[in-house]
Amino acid sequence: MSDLIYREIILDHYKNPRNFGSIDDADATMEESNVTCGDKVKYFVKIQDGIITDIKFVGRGCAISMASSSILTELVNGKSVDDVIKMTKDDLIESLGNPILGPNRIKCAVLPYKVLKSALIHYISEHPQKS
Ligand code: FES
Repeated sequence: MSDLIYREIILDHYKNPRNFGSIDDADATMEESNVTCGDKVKYFVKIQDGIITDIKFVGRGCAISMASSSILTELVNGKSVDDVIKMTKDDLIESLGNPILGPNRIKCAVLPYKVLKSALIHYISEHPQKS
């Protein structure tokens, strides 16, 4: 995918984030920040019979981290918790258009993935029979 397409994907999701907001009765939540810049992402996830049925996020961050947070919600909604935990950061980077990113920008892109994975692992540890 060209650099231009990746920039368009990032800008589109940054300007019009999908699934931005919170879920009052979320089954799994987690908030983490990028230690190098302090930017934050928090996910709220509804889970039914091991399937993600709704997901929202709030956060404050750069265009890449916010776009990545938005894209991740579309990527995982409707998938099983197990499948999402097995996802790799490369799956997310591919959804961003496979941009070539330096180490700091990679941290921005991967922050949402780390936060969501932590939320789901925490959920499974508290509900082992529901995963
Ligand atoms: Fe903070 Fe990108 S600069 S997450």
